[in-house]
Amino acid sequence: MLAPMEGVTDYHMRALLTSVGGYDRCVTEFLRVTDHLYPDRVFHRCCPELCEGGKTRAGTPVFVQLLGSDAGALAENAAKAVDMGALGIDLNFGCPAKTVNRHGGGSSLLRTPARVGEIVAAVRKAVPGTIPVTAKIRLGFDNPDPVLSIAEQVVGAEASELCIHARTRNDGYRPPAHWHLIEQVRARLHIPVIVNGEIWSPDNAQQALSDSACSDMMLGRGALSVPDLACQVRANAQGLRHENLGWPQIVRLLDQLLATAVDLPVIYAGNRTKQWLTYLRRGYPAAADLFTRIKRMRTVTDMAQVLALEKARLESA
Ligand SMILES: Cc1cc2nc3c(=O)[nH]c(=O)nc-3n(C[C@H](O)[C@H](O)[C@H](O)COP(=O)(O)O)c2cc1C
Repeated sequence: MLAPMEGVTDYHMRALLTSVGGYDRCVTEFLRVTDHLYPDRVFHRCCPELCEGGKTRAGTPVFVQLLGSDAGALAENAAKAVDMGALGIDLNFGCPAKTVNRHGGGSSLLRTPARVGEIVAAVRKAVPGTIPVTAKIRLGFDNPDPVLSIAEQVVGAEASELCIHARTRNDGYRPPAHWHLIEQVRARLHIPVIVNGEIWSPDNAQQALSDSACSDMMLGRGALSVPDLACQVRANAQGLRHENLGWPQIVRLLDQLLATAVDLPVIYAGNRTKQWLTYLRRGYPAAADLFTRIKRMRTVTDMAQVLALEKARLESA
């Protein structure tokens, strides 16, 4: 699965990465629910795929992710998302952002496992049984001790699946991810458990599956650094040959992303490309050089010119 990443895996990025392939599902960036029912346009902005059968252009199902602490409002909004065509609802209990946590949402709920259970149960009850309701948690807030009781609440509330980001809220995004701590949870639960966190390569993927005893994984920043990581992981697991994407193909993907920028504010569109390059630097040294060349640019047109030059250079090389 492709992880939800706010400000990064928007509609266009989901379309791009799932077209590269290897993903069975993706999840929208979180939609923060307070105490009211959102109008249609908010769901369409968060998940334009709702107008396209709930799937990306490549045919990959997209679940709508909700974040909040008001079980009733979450249930109502989940039911609406499903009425509008969402193929599944994912509940975010992992967001470490201070503003979100101050309002009792995201990972702050991990301190009160029973509330996690109440929210999952309310959402489960509000949407038809055929629609999956999944939860995404971390190991805990400031320590991993409560992970099993949180997971039991999620299962007791009849969630379909549980994804565990193998770090606590206080760990932030610092390595390592403690994949082995998921194993004890998985052994006690009868629903699929998905391992997430710090999977950057096929070797990491293999180790994460082995340490956690899970059979499914969710890829986050690794998917941005290596856009065909999911294909590499699958090929590796099946002992198949896979031609990894080279830098020229990555430049074409960057160009495609930039081309989607026409409907976005200039600053946002340009920043998205810069942001992706910062992730790509990890997998492709040439991305560092390209980032240096565009980092001070303000317009999409200037960036497109640099990309065109890079393409020409690669073609003549
Ligand atoms: C920029 C960014 C935005 C994120 N936004 C979300 C989000 O909207 N919902 C969510 O559940 N997790 C979010 N996450 C967490 C990721 O889904 C994932 O759990 C985390 O990055 C760990 O996986 P990784 O080590 O493979 O990146 C975000 C992470 C990053 C880096």
